[in-house]
Amino acid sequence: MDAPDFEKKFQEIIDREIKIEPKDWMPEAYRKTNLRQISQHAHSEIVGMLPEGNWISRAPSLKRKAILIAKVQDEAGHGLYLYCAAETLGFDRAQMIDDLHSGKAKYSSIFNYPTLTWADMGAIGWLVDGAAILNQVMLCRTSYGPYARAMVRICKEESFHQRQGFESLLVLSKGTAEQKAMCQDAINRWWWPSLMMFGPKDSESTNSDQSIKWKIKRKTNDELRQQFVNMIAEQVKLLGMTLPDPDLKWNEEKKQYNFGEINWEEFWNVVKGNGPCNKQRLDARRKAHENGAWVREAAMAYAKKAAAKKKPVAA
Ligand SMILES: [Fe+2]
Ligand SMILES: [Fe+2]
Repeated sequence: MDAPDFEKKFQEIIDREIKIEPKDWMPEAYRKTNLRQISQHAHSEIVGMLPEGNWISRAPSLKRKAILIAKVQDEAGHGLYLYCAAETLGFDRAQMIDDLHSGKAKYSSIFNYPTLTWADMGAIGWLVDGAAILNQVMLCRTSYGPYARAMVRICKEESFHQRQGFESLLVLSKGTAEQKAMCQDAINRWWWPSLMMFGPKDSESTNSDQSIKWKIKRKTNDELRQQFVNMIAEQVKLLGMTLPDPDLKWNEEKKQYNFGEINWEEFWNVVKGNGPCNKQRLDARRKAHENGAWVREAAMAYAKKAAAKKKPVAA
């Protein structure tokens, strides 16, 4: 078989909904797209720990502290499953981490926004994890086996993340005037960046068509964004709060919400590394990596010793 035959066969396997596994033949572009997407996703989970980690020591009660620690720890676990999935595509983890630290690899821009008040913890859970879930539920059926399987487990934890965020905001929304104002302010600041999480418009997204054909993605950016708006526009009513969009309006004909235009200039600016916290996030990651050098060295020394012990002694 020459290359076009392989590609035809590959597409047939995808169309029959059979998962692609690490040792299967795959077009180089399929491997690269998955590698980029999975490693970016892993980086996002790890960098995503930073804005919330900042609030662990300032959580208002023991209960909230325990919930937040559990959530941040879950995100670390998500990062680890995803680095493992990315490694099955033949790329070294140390290299992936170097690419993150050098700024070569991207992660979700949402984590470049600052967390200014306690209500941001609720807004992140509800809106940011909420947006992530829509994307991730779709990815449970992605065509690359190791990615799909990692997502099944991750999604179970993500739904807890969203619930705890909403519940935390619900408590604030029933509190004092100050707490209500803090809740509304957090929603105002996180709403638009959350919509940006779905990526550029379909008309400007370069990878979309091929990713859908290969069933890496099953819904487009605009479809997922619309689904998110429809969901959140209803949930916000339960909080007695509003979304900061004067154009948000139910469209009876289309049975969906109309919403205003995203500030795409801000979107591209943050993607390019000029967000409010880009530098701070990468500095924190680099520092953590340097501080962890002794752990990596100790693990290597231990592995070496263990391997030497196993070796049969020469007669
Ligand atoms: Fe996560
Ligand atoms: Fe999460």
